[in-house]
Amino acid sequence: MENILLDITEHIAKITINRPTALNALNKQTISELSEALDQLATNEDIRVLIITGSGTKAFVAGADIKEFSDFDVKQGAQLAALGHEMLFDKIEKFPKPVIAAVNGFALGGGLELAMACHFRIASDNARLGLPETSLGLIPGYGGTQRLPELVGKGKAIEMITTATMIDANDAHRWGLVNQVVAQAELEATCTKIAQKIAHNSPQAVGAALRAIAGGFNDKVNGYNVEISEFGKCFGTEDFKEGTTAFIEKRKPNF
Ligand code: CAA
Repeated sequence: MENILLDITEHIAKITINRPTALNALNKQTISELSEALDQLATNEDIRVLIITGSGTKAFVAGADIKEFSDFDVKQGAQLAALGHEMLFDKIEKFPKPVIAAVNGFALGGGLELAMACHFRIASDNARLGLPETSLGLIPGYGGTQRLPELVGKGKAIEMITTATMIDANDAHRWGLVNQVVAQAELEATCTKIAQKIAHNSPQAVGAALRAIAGGFNDKVNGYNVEISEFGKCFGTEDFKEGTTAFIEKRKPNF
């Protein structure tokens, strides 16, 4: 594994996404490594809880890797979203043991979508969260249009997605997007303490509780399909070309 680190201590697995020079952005390889690690951990009976975090002190994950998809066409765009759902985001949501996102900094675009696919989120006080895709001529493509309204309500989600603005950790807490905010130095210990509490409970009952809670959200499948198709279509627009080119050229887009 090149882009992720895995630590296992007393029933608790911790995955650290480790691409600090790209603010831990999710490129194809990182998604593939995460997918493989999830498969292994899902069937490892010794593991009872999983914590996912980002390396360094600046970012959890700053999104999908913009540089990797900036020349994609409509079909490739839809494939990018569909594969991401299948390989990573659905896998996390359906993971048989609780998954905690330790949001240690920027959680943007695919990064916030990753945190939202986790079963719950704990943030450090420097975290900033948002879905900035519309500023790139895109929409969220890894579940954000479905999971954000589920967590914060439709109105706040529409505001966050259409304004493409970030919110700070305290606002994220106020809106129910994260369960708790702690000082950055305490994030790891706080998540470990929660994971230890879970690990003390019946793994079978915890798994059953996850399945039961997930059962209430099954009618969202069509929404995800709409998202995949709409995400793909963005790749055929001039706005997408302008948005991603402007990002790479370090200038503001002119839509
Ligand atoms: N993809 C690729 N590279 C990224 C990246 C991303 N999402 N986010 C940051 N980086 C890279 C930068 O290009 C930069 O690389 P270089 O040093 O080679 O120039 C490096 O990480 C450091 O970033 P910045 O210099 O930009 O750091 P900053 O402190 O000035 O700004 C930031 C931090 C506000 C998070 C800014 O990096 C940013 O806006 N990043 C993009 C956020 C974004 O738009 N995410 C959504 C992606 S689209 C998506 O996720 C689609 C989907 O739903 C599937």
